[in-house]
Amino acid sequence: MISKLLYLNNSATSYPKPQSVIDAVNSAITLPPQEYGRTSSGINTIESTRAVLSELFGLKDKKKIVLLPSATYALNLCVSGLVKENIHVITSCYEHNSLLRPLYFAQKYNGVELSILSIDECRPENILTSLKKVKRKNTKVIALTQMSNVTGMIFPVEEIARFAANNNLSFIIDGAQGGGVSQITYENLEGKNYYCFAGHKNLFGPSGIGGLIVPDDTLPQNVYGGTGILSSHKEHPPQLPLRHEAGTPNLSGLMGLKEGVSFVLDKKIAKMGIHKKTLVANLIKHLKSIGKIKILENHSEDYSGGIVSFCIEGVSSKDVGFILSQTFSIETRTGLHCAPLVNDEFSFPKNGSIRVSFGPSNTLDDVEYLKKSISMLLTMF
Ligand SMILES: Cc1ncc(COP(=O)(O)O)c(C=O)c1O
Repeated sequence: MISKLLYLNNSATSYPKPQSVIDAVNSAITLPPQEYGRTSSGINTIESTRAVLSELFGLKDKKKIVLLPSATYALNLCVSGLVKENIHVITSCYEHNSLLRPLYFAQKYNGVELSILSIDECRPENILTSLKKVKRKNTKVIALTQMSNVTGMIFPVEEIARFAANNNLSFIIDGAQGGGVSQITYENLEGKNYYCFAGHKNLFGPSGIGGLIVPDDTLPQNVYGGTGILSSHKEHPPQLPLRHEAGTPNLSGLMGLKEGVSFVLDKKIAKMGIHKKTLVANLIKHLKSIGKIKILENHSEDYSGGIVSFCIEGVSSKDVGFILSQTFSIETRTGLHCAPLVNDEFSFPKNGSIRVSFGPSNTLDDVEYLKKSISMLLTMF
């Protein structure tokens, strides 16, 4: 047994954070605040964070990046602004509650019609045909994740954006998991795309920071307050990005996020993806050799997200997670992972699956230790 914790829960939040992120957060709360607009100084952390995000997401105009507390806030802002009464929205069984719940709210209170694509309809080879099939006269929005937080499946975002553009639909992309894993060049996406991202997952920032890339300044405002500038105006500035930003920002989060994104740019998304794919391939080969284990299939067969979710026949996933944590010091995540529909679609047990999610600092030795621990655990049942 190892005494050190083996952290395999990077899809919940990445760990360890790069030293540069830790240092940035530390200096944000230990050094005298010097932020432009809120002090007499000219240091502009907010704009330099927007600049590295623009580089990562392939954006020419950094004003289109709105900085928010999380992907959840970004998704809520998009749904409340775009999902108007009586329209039809296409979404999928892979979605996280951060998207599903605002959509269910709109369905319940605003008469919004929802089509939820099944796992087969979402297969990368079927998705465009499925969208065509379910589209109605009143369809206005497609809302999908870039990458499933349960199976790691990656959606073909460029093709879906083209379909949405050709049909005059807005596309809300939940990039909470996909940001930092699957490269997008926002500028090259056709149409009206709303890209929501989380800072604390594959962008390696601290929690409590995320954002949204908007195509233009037409998304309705839903927050009004201090902006640090234009203080004599009665109205909250309608221009981007301040249009959707109010109040003192999360400066330590922003400073950490800037370093996290710089880390991703430096390490290169593709290189980190190849490393995680090697770890996943090794683990899956082993799990498949054990008869009692069922894996939640990743239909894109692209494992750059480093995710493997599985269950053991006849054993509660919660118990497996507990034993892995308490006996073997391995931290995974068990349950429905806030994406309940995909579990049912795959006919997995009601209490869900065990999710292993690797980060760039995990090694093949970690996979070996996990494999041995699972084998020992199996002898307990
Ligand atoms: C697919 C997906 N969407 C949205 C979220 C919410 O992200 P945040 O923690 O930034 O609110 C998560 C977080 O687990 C996620 O996995």
